[in-house]
Amino acid sequence: SNQRRPLIAGNWKMNGLAKSAGNELLELVKLVRDHKAPNCDILICPPATLVREMAKLAEDNAVDIGGQDCHAAENGAHTGDISAEMLKDAGAGYCIVGHSERRADHGETNAAVKAKAEAALRANMIAVVCVGETLDEREADKTLDVISDQVKNSLPEGATAANTVIAYEPVWAIGTGKTPTPLDVAVVHAHIRSELGSLMNDSDQVRLLYGGSVKGSNAEELMAVENVDGALVGGASLKAADFWPIVATS
Ligand code: G3P
Repeated sequence: SNQRRPLIAGNWKMNGLAKSAGNELLELVKLVRDHKAPNCDILICPPATLVREMAKLAEDNAVDIGGQDCHAAENGAHTGDISAEMLKDAGAGYCIVGHSERRADHGETNAAVKAKAEAALRANMIAVVCVGETLDEREADKTLDVISDQVKNSLPEGATAANTVIAYEPVWAIGTGKTPTPLDVAVVHAHIRSELGSLMNDSDQVRLLYGGSVKGSNAEELMAVENVDGALVGGASLKAADFWPIVATS
């Protein structure tokens, strides 16, 4: 039997200014407190500009704070970039790496994602490594091959269930309102779990998140799928009132 504690994570992407973001976070923290501790870990990944402020507002750890990306190097001549150590220093306990928007917009390869995940681990953060196929890849029946390749080649050296989370986000389901069927999700998650079996010792305990158009009305069905240990939520994580019903499914 598994002891995987669900993780419900919000990825705010490039959204959030101090005032309104602070209000949403405080409202979320209040909901968590009022309902006693839900049976899951809760994470918000705001833009880097807000990490320190959000981490202060969530000081009692009702909600964890994470980064959305980090540079692979510890410091140096990388104008505009932010290191894992800087995010950790600002209060982040997690860092998303390899989100499809970064793979697409910034040309991040599996090797680059792996190096970033390793930087996150060196900084004592939990790496949330994202994988997912495009619509073309799905239609060409390449989904499982693409996922295998991404998992094998983006997984950080030294990955354990304690320091690494995998998020499956089909690219075509992100921000589109479209979701795979529960069966489609089950097939991919079982495949990821089995790939991890040859890559790490405690693969049974690694949390596998589903992401892509998760909202209050579909969360229960998606979270009930075997090998789904939580969600990575974009749009529906921006407002506490939308995010809370997803958290409450755990
Ligand atoms: O990282 C989460 C994200 O890509 C999913 O976005 O807006 O479809 O929930 P959304």
